[in-house]
Parts: sequence; C-alpha cells; structure tokens
Amino acid sequence: MLVTNAKSLMPTSLATFLAVHLAAQCGALPIDDTAVLTTTACIRCHPVQAQEWFQSPHRTAFTEATFQSAIAIEPAAFCRGCHAPQADPTVAEITPPARLGVGCISCHVREDRVVSWKPSGPDSPHTIERRPRASSSEVCQKCHEFVFPDSALRDEPLFMQLTVTEHAQSKFAAEPCVACHMEAKPDTAHRSHEFLASRSPAMVRRGVRVETERPDATTIVMTLRAGKVGHAFPTGDLFRRVEVGVQTIIEGEGETGPSRTQYLARHFGTQMQSSGVVLRGELHDNRVPATGEPRVIRWSVPEAAGHSVRWWVDYQRVAHHTSRDPRSAFVDGTIRIAQGTLPAH
Ligand code: HEC
Ligand code: HEC
Ligand code: HEC
Ligand code: HEC
Ligand code: HEC
Repeated sequence: MLVTNAKSLMPTSLATFLAVHLAAQCGALPIDDTAVLTTTACIRCHPVQAQEWFQSPHRTAFTEATFQSAIAIEPAAFCRGCHAPQADPTVAEITPPARLGVGCISCHVREDRVVSWKPSGPDSPHTIERRPRASSSEVCQKCHEFVFPDSALRDEPLFMQLTVTEHAQSKFAAEPCVACHMEAKPDTAHRSHEFLASRSPAMVRRGVRVETERPDATTIVMTLRAGKVGHAFPTGDLFRRVEVGVQTIIEGEGETGPSRTQYLARHFGTQMQSSGVVLRGELHDNRVPATGEPRVIRWSVPEAAGHSVRWWVDYQRVAHHTSRDPRSAFVDGTIRIAQGTLPAH
C-alpha cells in the first residue's frame, strides 16, 4: 500500500514556477561573477538540473503541506532557517525566496565560488572550485545533522537528526551520501538532483532485509537487518518509524485475532535535567542499526496456536503524534516493505 505524499502547495511545472515567481527577479541575465551566484540565475543556465531539483524535496522543503502544518504547531525561525535558507527566517509567509526552499546556492556556493564535485568539465562563465567527490557529504552535514535549539538548558545537547554520525558508523561510510541519493544517469554522465529517499518505494525497500520465523506455535520472531542503506533505518526526521505487526487468522469464519504492533523508532518522552528542568528526551532507539547488527522482535501470541499468522513491515512518515499511544499518530505516508503468512503450527 502506498499513500501518496500530501499535495504540495506549489505549481506543478518548472515553467509555471519560473513565470510566476522568478521572472521579475531574473530579467536579462548579466554574465558576471556577482550576478550569476543566485539560485534564480543557476536555474536559467542549468535547466536539466533545475528540472530535477524542482521535483525534489529540497525545492519543496518550505512550501510542502507537511512542513507547513508542522511549522503552524511550532512557529520557530530556527525551523525556517533550514527549510528556506534563502528567506528571512523571521517571516512566516511563503515569500518568493522561501519558495526556492533549499536552492542551488545552499549546496554549490562557497565564498563566492561555485563548487563542483566532478574532476573536470567544460569551460563555464563562472569560477569553479573543484573538490573531491568523496568530500561532497560535508555539504549535507550542515542540515542533516543538528541539535534541538535548547542545548543551554540540557545536560547534553539532544540531536534532532544525526544522519551524518550514523553514516560514519555504517558499512557504507566510505560512500558519500550522493552515491545513493543522486542516481547516476548513464546517458549523460550526470547525477540526478531529485534526491529520492522516503517517497520512493523501491529505495525504501532496498534499505532493509526482513526474515520471519515461527519457532513454535505461539512464538513469532522477526529479524530486520540494514540493506543498502548508509545510516540507521529509518533516519532523518525524528518522527520517521517502521511499524512491524502480526495478527492471527482464525480460519473458516474469516475472523482475525488482535493485531499486535511495535514501532521501530527513536522514542521520545520527558526527561528531567540536573537543573530540575523537564524537557523532551530520547528514551530509547530501536531502529534498525546502520552497523548491520540485527534488530530482533519476538512476539508471544497465545491465540495463534493451531492457526496461521499474517505479518507485515511498513515504513511510515509520521506527521505528528496526537497522544502517547503510537497507534494514534497522524501518518502522512506509508510504504509496505514486506508481508506474508506463516502457516498453522
Ligand atoms: C542538496 C545539495 C544540492 C543542491 C540543492 C543542488 N545541487 Fe547540484 N550537485 C550537488 C552535488 C553533490 C553534485 C555532484 C554530484 C556528483 O557526485 O557527481 C552536484 C552536481 C551538479 C552539477 C554538475 C553536473 C551534474 O549534474 O552532475 C551541476 C551543473 C549542478 N549540480 C547544478 C545545480 C543547480 C543548477 C542546482 C539548482 C537548480 C543544484 N545543482 C542544486 C548538490 C546539490
Ligand atoms: C550564465 C549562465 C550560467 C549561470 C548563471 C550559472 N552557470 Fe554553472 N555553468 C555554466 C556553463 C556554460 C557551465 C559549463 C558547462 C556545464 O558544465 O554545464 C557551467 C558549469 C557549472 C558546474 C560545473 C559542472 C562541471 O563540469 O563540473 C556547476 C556545478 C555549475 N555550473 C553550477 C552552477 C550554479 C550552482 C550556479 C548558480 C550559483 C550556476 N552554475 C550559474 C553556465 C552558468
Ligand atoms: C540547506 C539545508 C540542506 C542541505 C545543505 C542539504 N539538505 Fe537534504 N534536505 C533538507 C531539508 C530541509 C529536507 C526536507 C525536505 C522536506 O521533506 O520537507 C531535505 C531532504 C532531503 C532528502 C529527502 C528525504 C526524504 O525524506 O525523502 C534527501 C535524500 C536529502 N535531503 C539528502 C541530502 C544530501 C545527500 C545532501 C548533501 C549533498 C543534502 N541533502 C543537503 C535540507 C538540506
Ligand atoms: C548506501 C546507500 C546510502 C547512503 C550512503 C546514504 N543513504 Fe540515505 N537512504 C538510503 C536508503 C536506501 C534510504 C531509504 C530507506 C530509509 O528510509 O532509510 C535512505 C533514506 C534517507 C533519508 C530519508 C529518511 C528516512 O530514513 O526515511 C534521508 C534524509 C537520507 N537518507 C539522508 C542521507 C544522508 C544525509 C546521507 C549521508 C550522510 C545518506 N543518506 C547516505 C541509502 C543511503
Ligand atoms: C538544520 C536544519 C533543520 C532544522 C533547523 C529543522 N529541520 Fe526539519 N528537516 C530537516 C531535514 C534535513 C529534513 C529531512 C529529513 C527526512 O526527510 O527525514 C527535515 C524534515 C522535516 C519534516 C518532514 C517533512 C516531510 O515531508 O515528511 C518536518 C515536518 C520538519 N522537518 C519540520 C521541522 C520543524 C517544525 C522544525 C523546527 C522545530 C525543523 N524541521 C527544523 C532539516 C531541518
């Protein structure tokens, strides 16, 4: 089952986007080093990359419905500064610079020079600083690894996302993030700027391997191991999770037993700091580790004796939690990773 992403609040084609939002800013493009270093200028001269970026979660980082509902609950400049780095973070409205989300310059411009991670290329009208491809993950670090903004109140800073640390611990630490997230386009020796991840069922399924066993009539054991994934599964936003579940099928009458679910995630609750202040804290983390260590889930299912049992593994993008009960969370998107039925025992 695939529930599609909440509708973006944006026009659907790059042409409309350019016409509506960028025309006024672009004008006739002067070719000199100061004027070319804006995202709107990059878009005009690099339409192939721009078209891919336009579809990507980077471009929609500020405008997409999930972020807009989250920022409505927690309206902080801290959040806007990273989801729309080219806009004024104190302004809540969706302004033209905010519509660019994470634009070209967020990754490519450093000290007034365009950075390329390719060893060579044709002449360009702007200066290019060439860096080794292996170093490209440095540019991801500033946004994909960060702490909650209340570190001053805590005994230790709490990471809101820690994908880069997880990457360093993974079997794929030697592969830069873009080896997996920028798909190679063989015909053009070019890598895609779509940055596929949690919206791609094929990619999500590549990230984990699942084995299910029934050692005796009332025990079900599920083992999950990291697949071709360069960090914990799942990583990223703190509300990403995997639902694993089993349910007894009472044959004949089409009846089913209770559904037993568990959630593999970073689990948060409140924690008291040594100052006495009570803040959100991470209670435990039972995601599938990046290191390749197995995550084993064991159920005791008394009602299963003599019956078959169905099982499933779902990846879920949780928008927000409505209560302490994880089953009542508001889920924005689900991808079924694996499912099956274990025969009666
Ligand atoms: C999230 C970071 C990020 C953003 C945003 C981004 N790029 Fe890139 N871009 C990269 C990386 C990393 C590479 C190198 C990929 C590789 O290893 O070959 C790259 C490669 C390129 C290349 C070299 C040729 C190619 O496509 O491989 C061009 C040109 C380029 N980007 C232009 C753009 C333009 C124009 C935009 C905005 C529309 C943009 N980029 C947005 C990270 C980014
Ligand atoms: C006036 C047109 C123009 C503008 C504006 C422009 N570029 Fe380029 N750029 C080129 C041309 C032409 C090349 C060389 C041919 C190619 O690689 O596409 C180039 C090359 C590049 C490369 C290197 C590709 C390689 O060979 O490694 C990158 C990366 C890049 N541009 C990114 C950007 C970014 C990011 C911006 C905005 C800050 C930008 N460019 C603005 C025209 C432009
Ligand atoms: C300026 C900040 C910034 C930089 C730099 C940046 N990202 Fe992102 N990235 C974001 C934000 C914000 C989102 C979330 C967009 C959303 O879904 O709202 C995102 C989303 C993504 C996603 C999609 C995640 C999903 O759930 O599907 C991938 C993959 C990704 N980034 C990889 C990278 C890689 C690889 C690099 C380095 C080459 C990079 N990013 C650089 C801010 C950044
Ligand atoms: C060996 C391949 C590989 C490497 C290297 C890799 N990733 Fe991923 N990434 C994946 C796969 C597969 C998924 C989808 C499975 C998943 O959801 O975790 C994914 C998912 C994501 C997501 C979406 C959140 C999630 O877990 O659903 C983000 C954000 C992300 N990666 C960022 C990064 C960043 C940043 C780096 C580098 C520090 C990186 N990735 C390195 C394979 C990789
Ligand atoms: C330092 C950069 C940074 C800051 C600050 C930040 N985020 Fe993000 N945010 C990201 C990245 C990177 C992702 C993509 C990770 C993923 O997809 O799992 C993301 C993903 C999200 C998502 C998931 C989007 C989707 O489509 O599923 C939401 C919602 C979100 N952030 C809300 C917030 C809110 C609210 C704040 C402030 C409390 C905030 N972010 C602060 C970088 C940031």
